[in-house]
This record gives sequence, C-alpha cells and structure tokens, in this order.
Amino acid sequence: MEHSFFAEKLLTWYRTAQRDLPWRHTTNPYYIWLSEVILQQTRVAQGMPYYYKFIEAFPTVFDLAAANESEVLRLWQGLGYYSRARNLHATAKQVVEAYGGVFPQTYEELLKLKGVGSYTAAAIVSFAFNERVAVLDGNVYRVLARVFGIETDIASHEAKKIFMTWATALLPSQHVNLYNQAIMEFGAIQCTPGVPPTCMFCVFAQECTANATQRQGILPVKTKKVKVKERFFHYIVVQYQDEIAMKKRLLKDIWAEMYDFHLVESTEPLQLDDLVAQDALLQKILPEASIVGVSDVFTHILTHQKIQTTFWHIKLHSTPSSDWHEHLHFYTPEAMDNLPKPILIHNYLTQYLYKQLQ
Ligand code: ADE
Repeated sequence: MEHSFFAEKLLTWYRTAQRDLPWRHTTNPYYIWLSEVILQQTRVAQGMPYYYKFIEAFPTVFDLAAANESEVLRLWQGLGYYSRARNLHATAKQVVEAYGGVFPQTYEELLKLKGVGSYTAAAIVSFAFNERVAVLDGNVYRVLARVFGIETDIASHEAKKIFMTWATALLPSQHVNLYNQAIMEFGAIQCTPGVPPTCMFCVFAQECTANATQRQGILPVKTKKVKVKERFFHYIVVQYQDEIAMKKRLLKDIWAEMYDFHLVESTEPLQLDDLVAQDALLQKILPEASIVGVSDVFTHILTHQKIQTTFWHIKLHSTPSSDWHEHLHFYTPEAMDNLPKPILIHNYLTQYLYKQLQ
C-alpha cells in the first residue's frame, strides 16, 4: 500500500468517525499538555471531567504555576499517582520560570520539560504546532503492526526505533495534527486490542495484513515476561556408616527418574526449626542422629524456575529400622557414582560429601 494512500484513507475515516473530545478543539499547547498528562493516567471518559476541572481552575499555565500544591492535589484526587500531580505543578512552574509562560514550540525543547517524554512532546508539537513528528503510543504500535504485518516484538529494545521509522515514513506532508490524532483514534475505537469484531467493516479490510491472514490476535507481537517460580529445596542427606540414602525421583516436574536424596520443598527459605516441623522423616530420625554439615546454597536456574538448594548432611547413630522409609535405600559412594543424578546432586557430592567421607 502506498504510504500516502494509508494517510489519506485514515484522514477520511477520521473526519466522520472521530469522537468529539474537548482537547481536539484547541491548539493551545498548555491545554494539550494538560489533556495528555491526564490521559496518561486514565481513559478518555474518566479523564474528561478532570480536564474540565483543571482548565476551569487554572485557565493558564501562570495560574497553575501560582497555585498551592494542595489545591493541585485536591483536583487530582481520584486519578492516583500523586507524584504525577506534583510533576504537573513543577512543570508549570518550569514553563513560567524558564520560558516566560510560553510553551516551547519544538520537539527537542519540549523534551527538556519535567515529565515530558517522547510521546508527550510529539503529541504537543504535532497537535498544537502541526510539526511533522510521529506519535507512538500503544494504539499506534497495534495499528502499524497489523496493517503492515510488522512482526517485531513491541517489548523488545529495537521496537521503538523500527516502529518510529514506519510511523515517520507514513506521515502525510500536511495535516500531521489531524493524522496523529487519527491513527490514535483508529487504534482506540476501530483497531482495538484482542480480535476486533468489526474488521469486515474496516476501511483497511482489503489492505490489512492481519485481516488477510487472520492474525489480529497475534499482532502486535508482545512477549510476556516469563514468570520465574522460586523454589527452595532442602535435601536431607542421610548417612549410616559409609553409606548414603538415595531414592529415585518419580515426580515428573524436573529430573524424573534420576536419583536424589530425601527432599523437603518450600516456597520460602527455611530455618532448621521450620524444616523439622514440616518433615516427618526428620522428626523420626533426629533423636538418634546428628547434623554434621550444612552446605552453602546451590542456585540452579531453569527457564521458568529458580531453585535454591541447601543440603543437610545427617549421620545416623543407630541402625535404621527396615521400614524407616519406603523409597530411600543406602548406597556406597561407588554405587552412587553409577546412579543417574541431576548435575546439582553431582556437584554437591563432589564439592562436599565425598570430601567428608574420605
Ligand atoms: N489518549 C491519549 N491522548 C489522547 C488524545 N489526544 N485523544 C484521545 N485519546 C487519547
């Protein structure tokens, strides 16, 4: 699709589909800045009353700068993140003190204002001064990724640069103010998150890559950060004479079919008292045993889990009864060598236990 075709069609759509929003009737950068700061915080419907309250109470940036902080915070009540309200107040003072109350008119200069980042600076210069700078917010990422089939993960480091290149190339030569509002509006009310129910009526139904390939639910690509599960393993390494008790691990979660020791697992680190309280085997054997060594913590990182393991080396003073444990059996060091073991167990044996057995 021709770039100019995309912009023209979008502008045509916007002229009839746009919502009538109060900050779209002004080119006053102070009002536009206020609206954008409020809308960072909340949706349009909830933000609107705040916008009206602020411009009524503080019709100019001088009024806001001169206000009491408590008054600003009071009007902000209900929006949350009160540091934003303090920043808003501080920025108004900055505009008055450093710029004589006149908002900077260039993208670069706007970026110097407290709390004004690349999105807000682009919104202000384009909406207020029609400067040719692309806005890039979540709506724009979604529209571009779908219409043009951009597969870049929007959570990746390079995403901003890649999408900004597309967004800039698509800017029309005129009406950038309307165009930037249009692409955001299109993302907000037509090209919505999830699978939009109205793709068949979309003005880009013919041209849109996502629509053609039914990938609305996949584009934009956004990898979720994998949640790492923290697990704490406490291995009870029971020794009697020269032999060590091991068992075959039957649980399928990790290391299935390999040999390990008696395991107490928890979601938090445990002190000895807690460990004993949780474990019947320890309660049974400790009266006739001594703890002869506690290892350092071994950290084992897997894709979705972080396992922190401590090995408790315990020596029995008397012969264990034949039914002392259903699955644990005693092995000599030579026999243990021949058992398949997780690397964690192997490391413990070579770094700790074998040295003690010598
Ligand atoms: N969300 C953020 N800025 C917006 C704007 N100018 N109009 C509508 N929604 C918005």
